[in-house]
Amino acid sequence: KKKTTIIPKNFLWGGAVTSFQTEGAWNEGGKGLSLVDARPIKEGHSDWKVAVDFYHRYKEDILLFKEMGFNAYRTSISWSRIFPDGEGEANEEGLKFYDDLFDEMITNGIQPVITLYHFDLPLALAKKYNGFASRKVVDLFDHYARTVFKRYSHKVKYWLTFNEQNLVLTKPEYWGVNLEQAENKEALLYQVAHNAFIAHAKAVQSLHEIVPEGKMAGMVTYLTTYPNTCKPKDAIANMKAKEWLVDFYFDVFAHGEYPTYITSDLKKKGIMPIFEEEDAKLLKENTVDYLSISYYQSQTVSSDKQNNESIISGVTPNPHLKTNEWGWAIDPIGLRVCLKDMYARYRLPIFITENGIGVKETLNEQGTVEDDYRISYLHEHIKQMKLAIEEGVDIIGYLTWGSTDLLSSGGQFEKRYGFVFVDRGEKDLKDLKRYKKKSFNWYKEVIASNGEIV
Ligand code: BG6
Repeated sequence: KKKTTIIPKNFLWGGAVTSFQTEGAWNEGGKGLSLVDARPIKEGHSDWKVAVDFYHRYKEDILLFKEMGFNAYRTSISWSRIFPDGEGEANEEGLKFYDDLFDEMITNGIQPVITLYHFDLPLALAKKYNGFASRKVVDLFDHYARTVFKRYSHKVKYWLTFNEQNLVLTKPEYWGVNLEQAENKEALLYQVAHNAFIAHAKAVQSLHEIVPEGKMAGMVTYLTTYPNTCKPKDAIANMKAKEWLVDFYFDVFAHGEYPTYITSDLKKKGIMPIFEEEDAKLLKENTVDYLSISYYQSQTVSSDKQNNESIISGVTPNPHLKTNEWGWAIDPIGLRVCLKDMYARYRLPIFITENGIGVKETLNEQGTVEDDYRISYLHEHIKQMKLAIEEGVDIIGYLTWGSTDLLSSGGQFEKRYGFVFVDRGEKDLKDLKRYKKKSFNWYKEVIASNGEIV
């Protein structure tokens, strides 16, 4: 069957991870403690000390990525490897680690796509300043960002500021913030969100100054939302959920100012964040080069249901969709809805920097995993992405979540995402040996054909 070429020639294909979910070596190379190292460990889950030992095994893993044909790989820099206490002198050993890692990737034809911050603030900054509640931490973040832009200016083109910045209002603890002492918790929350926007804008500014050809994104986790019924009240509830969850962030990233649907509400409540003198100008002058999303699922919003079970209120099950073992609604068309909406609103290139499915898996006797469910999940999402491209959306790359297995965000190892099985359990580290799953060869063919086989 003859197919037409839809995906651009220089399209970026690969996988995405973070430092703390893969590296391990939590106290090696002069690294300081981060928020993650201090997180309480959930019953039956793993700790973060070893992860998949990428710190020591990255050469072996990169060869596997090369074999799959990756030309991009997203990871994050661990701030506390570079500045163990978040401030003071930079740690040369930490800087050197990422130099070596990026060199190894580049030598193997894989360009690093780098997140500056993935919820792993140096612990000292949480204790000393209450994290991003303080403008001091915004300045320290700027210093950290400038340090790594200078150091890796010839190695990294695509950067992301904060992973899933739209979690800031529901998970302020990921920004090192404790709300307990706050007189007005809601006001502080919006101040933290504002500080994150300022830190983001400063990083855009610094990158453009230091690396003129560098590209910076703002990123959110995109939950496509649907109104539960065609009742107008459901339509408004859905619209508000989307504004609050997604549009607010993209509007600031792309248009450089707070949207009026947010300011009207904050003013009414008397909780407009404090803008320092240059803030409005800084936001306006430092908009992003591209937009980035993680996409896993969609949600359905009902006006009758006001609850906070999800990061948006009023979420109700969608009877038309199946869910994964963790209750996430699998919805490839939802990805197309998201991409089309984003492009219509912003006309900026879009980079899908996370998409995938977590599954409990075991090695079979042949030393592999027949993960047809993963192939099917990714296949359907890539298909919808291609349709979006056909319909005019500018997409520059697609990265799956995971490449080898890695720790999930809650510290559960058994929720596996990779094309490569890593042999360890929650507590029993076994030998951490790597085994190719069935999806490994499938993704290799997808990349080799630039998506034609999908
Ligand atoms: C994203 C995060 O929310 O989703 C990752 O950027 C995370 O850190 C991924 O691992 C998948 O979520 P989880 O909870 O299944 O690991």
